[in-house]
Amino acid sequence: MSKKPKFQTLTGMHDILGEEQKYFQKIYSVVENIAQFYGFQKIETPILEETELFSKGTGSSTDVVQKEMYSFRTKGGDYVSLRPEGTPSIVRAYIEHGMISRPQPVKLYHNVAPFFRYERPQAGRYREFHQFDFEVLGEKNSVIDVQLIQIGYNILKELGLKDLIIEINSIGDAQCRPYYKKSLVNYLRKHQVVLCADCKRRLKENPLRILDCKKEKCQELVNTAPQIIDYLCEECHNYFKEVLEFLDELDLPYRLNPFLARGLDYYTKTVFEIFEETEEGKKQGILIAGGRYDGLIKLLGGKDAPACGMAGGVERIMNIMKNAEVKITQSSPPKIFLAQLGELAKKRSLKLLEEFRKAKIPVAESLSRDSLKIQLGIADKLGTEYTLILGQKEALEQSVIVREMTTGRQKTVKLDNVIAEMRKRLKKS
Ligand code: HAM
Repeated sequence: MSKKPKFQTLTGMHDILGEEQKYFQKIYSVVENIAQFYGFQKIETPILEETELFSKGTGSSTDVVQKEMYSFRTKGGDYVSLRPEGTPSIVRAYIEHGMISRPQPVKLYHNVAPFFRYERPQAGRYREFHQFDFEVLGEKNSVIDVQLIQIGYNILKELGLKDLIIEINSIGDAQCRPYYKKSLVNYLRKHQVVLCADCKRRLKENPLRILDCKKEKCQELVNTAPQIIDYLCEECHNYFKEVLEFLDELDLPYRLNPFLARGLDYYTKTVFEIFEETEEGKKQGILIAGGRYDGLIKLLGGKDAPACGMAGGVERIMNIMKNAEVKITQSSPPKIFLAQLGELAKKRSLKLLEEFRKAKIPVAESLSRDSLKIQLGIADKLGTEYTLILGQKEALEQSVIVREMTTGRQKTVKLDNVIAEMRKRLKKS
């Protein structure tokens, strides 16, 4: 058995190597194009923030804050956390930079970036993972909720994912949710013995979190619990109706899930999740999730302004793309290989390579090799159309041999003219 290396990635964290990079890059570029199309502005926020931003924003009774944050005290005595999610940071930025005085809504996105949750690692669940995130701040119109769902769905479709399903619910607002909570607690109290230890605690602290519990016994109980939809106030009811009407217009595959509550505290009204479903109707990991959060900006010290957003889990999307062997068109490989022989030729090659780069003509090389045979072998393997050969003689004469790989035909060209010559030849090919 081979010995384990002394240093390895931490549990739940991973390197993203060559084979996976193409998926990673593809997700990045699709998000970039879609964000631009829908008029979102890019934002990057720090990976470290004050712990209180999340305990207040994400919610002190959530699993994310209670169990999963990487928090520590700095040398200066500040209590900080690695960000477990992006929404509180974007809201902080919106308030801090006075974006409320810009024309509303302010539409912000951040592309693939790392987040940290100290969770028990399992398939699709990591301690360091990546998200892209879209937030629309300062707008209460229900069309925004639906547009965000559409954007999430479009991203997944564009990445080649199939069998996507959207689940949606309304969890009401500060007016109507207390009535629902009361009714839910009454129901759950009667069956308290069945609840897991965490849910017994949740029953006192935040009973809505019980709806998210993955334990079988708790889920069975939830399935026959009162549904929030029956407790929505008139405003929330009408709002939800509008959302569903917009959704119908768009022909998106959605269904209502009356127990969808999402694991974060800030949501009001609309909540949704997008995932892939197997043929047997089995829910795969949630790929994109989000919702409206009309109270969060005020809660974090800003003016009273509504907002809505969603975030996608990059590793989960990437895993599906890998398993389904989604084809990714990569930029075409270089058609030219630059081979060299001797010290002076190596120096000239270094310079020539830079000239090709400035001319935006891709060229492959293996400058560290000394054997011409090996270099020609590499060119052959890469399937380049031309090999440029720079030997001692050519280096002295400021010239280079252009060899057509399929015919073996060769022509000597002055170094000063080789870019123009190759541009001409590539245009023809
Ligand atoms: P979330 O549901 O906590 O929501 O995370 C969004 C997505 O990130 C999940 O659906 C999942 O794909 C991915 N994800 C979360 N945790 C992990 C993990 N440990 N390993 C791998 N992937 C993970 C939010 O973060 C909200 N900020 C979304 C939002 C934006 N709501 C409004 N605006």
